[in-house]
Amino acid sequence: MSEERLQKILSRAGVASRRAAEVLIAEGHVTVDGKVVKELGTKVDAARADIRVDGRKIKRSVEKIYVMLNKPRRVLSAVSDDHGRQTVVDLIDDVEEKIFPIGRLDYNTEGLLLLTNDGELANGLMHPRFEVDKTYRAVLKGRVDEERLDRLRVGLKLEDGMTAPALVETLAIEGDESLVEITIHEGRNRQVRRMFSAIGYNIKRLRRVKFAGLTVDGLKLGEHRRLNKREVEALYRLTGLEAKAWSSEKSSSGDGQRGSSKIAPSRKKKFVGS
Ligand code: URA
Repeated sequence: MSEERLQKILSRAGVASRRAAEVLIAEGHVTVDGKVVKELGTKVDAARADIRVDGRKIKRSVEKIYVMLNKPRRVLSAVSDDHGRQTVVDLIDDVEEKIFPIGRLDYNTEGLLLLTNDGELANGLMHPRFEVDKTYRAVLKGRVDEERLDRLRVGLKLEDGMTAPALVETLAIEGDESLVEITIHEGRNRQVRRMFSAIGYNIKRLRRVKFAGLTVDGLKLGEHRRLNKREVEALYRLTGLEAKAWSSEKSSSGDGQRGSSKIAPSRKKKFVGS
């Protein structure tokens, strides 16, 4: 954690407003590691310092972090791995807080993965009740047949139950390959692969291009960026939760194209029979 102004730390910890915190500091109520600090611009590492107001230790408020990663293949959606495989957290080298992926993508699935230390928002986004949309692009072996895709559009039986109707669109058929876009709101294990397998297609490449209205546009494979305030608020709105303190926009690895990810416009669901 980097250093921040003492008054900002105090106000985030709920001690007082920024202005009132400045008065507390100036009047000598605040100690840092046992020493009274009256200087207003003093910068402190809140994660390490012992900060007290009138002798009472302040609550450490952890900065909320929201990161979007364009996950490459052969990277595990986890915070660590007993077998030494690279994890999505290993790819994010500029965040010191302990963040974790919101849901998961298979080891060999690419694309949009959000990571955060905000458990409440993560739970909301993963909860089936909120039916958060996830859009994937699948390169399939073979030339797709719309009638078979219709089975995905109405819902089909997998070993763990019926799938909800999916939004499915064939984007291209070339030679012996097809590119199909599918939007689902469930998050069962290997669901998209199992859905296509159930109608007789194998997936050669699977990529998540949208999640909860966010797109991965502008991020190359392996790159990440912080979400901005508007994006975090939109995620909160989706789950009906109230936005709390969230981290400021900070730069991350990348090539200057970062930040072009957009909240996609809402779309009408078109299902077979509707
Ligand atoms: N469905 C899959 O089959 N795999 C993923 O990684 C995500 C959704």
